[in-house]
Amino acid sequence: MKIISSIHELRDQLRGQNRTAFVPTMGNLHEGHLSLMRLARQHGDPVVASIFVNRLQFGPNEDFDKYPRTFEEDVEKLQKENVYVLFAPTERDLYPEPQQYRVHPPQDLGDILEGEFRPGFFQGVCTVVMKLMSCVQPRVAVFGKKDYQQLMIVRQMCHQFALPTDIIAAETVRDADGLALSSRNRYLQPTERAEAPQLAIALNGVRTAVLAGDRDFAKIEQQAMATLAARGWQPDYIAVRKRVNLQAPAAHETDAPLVVLAAAKLGATRLIDNLEI
Ligand code: PAJ
Repeated sequence: MKIISSIHELRDQLRGQNRTAFVPTMGNLHEGHLSLMRLARQHGDPVVASIFVNRLQFGPNEDFDKYPRTFEEDVEKLQKENVYVLFAPTERDLYPEPQQYRVHPPQDLGDILEGEFRPGFFQGVCTVVMKLMSCVQPRVAVFGKKDYQQLMIVRQMCHQFALPTDIIAAETVRDADGLALSSRNRYLQPTERAEAPQLAIALNGVRTAVLAGDRDFAKIEQQAMATLAARGWQPDYIAVRKRVNLQAPAAHETDAPLVVLAAAKLGATRLIDNLEI
């Protein structure tokens, strides 16, 4: 595996490749990330991964400085997955000057759910993903459903800019107790880690209620949030949405494929998860 930090060298290394499969990450890799590498391998060759903790997508009070950085371990894991190139730019490589041109996602997708609680987050994600894709020029790129809204926004961005990159969705990888793997799980104290699967349990409860025919989404959402709150969580949202555009389903849209999305804080750690219904 070649580890490359400069954009110039990356372009040299990938010149002539037209089936590249790309997996962007912020590092601290776990089985969820590695499943993306394996899916990428099925859809293209060579597989290129990136590790870059993108300052633009962190709010002023978020965890940019303490975001876990475990480069040596990450390299070992990627080597085992037969990744051809790891693109690991420094901030000076990727943002040699202030990034003043940015990609703004549409408000109806970028300012709801995660975007409501993390202003500017998806602008930061879109901007870095656009830039990484301009560097790698992949035929396909793999994103996890764990970050469902991110996946949708990136897919729409590629579509509207007519980028030659297809976005492939990977299923969420979970621990045996149902907790979705996340780099942020390592912030959880032992008692919090024991409590954390309750988020997926709450999502399952919503899913079961909807599948049983209950259409009072607001009530179902409120009940699920109240259950978590009673257990000591601070829920930001639990929301049943249409998969196609993440808008709330109208009462008559009984056939629309749905997804339930959630974000909640447990102690100092904010967790997100979702479940297709
Ligand atoms: P990061 O959080 O490192 O996630 C990188 C990719 O791994 C994303 O596509 C994410 O959805 C996926 N992923 C994370 N946990 C997963 C799990 N448990 N199962 C399956 N896939 C999982 O998402 C980002 O980085 C950044 O926003 C990025 C896209 C790299 C832009 O900076």
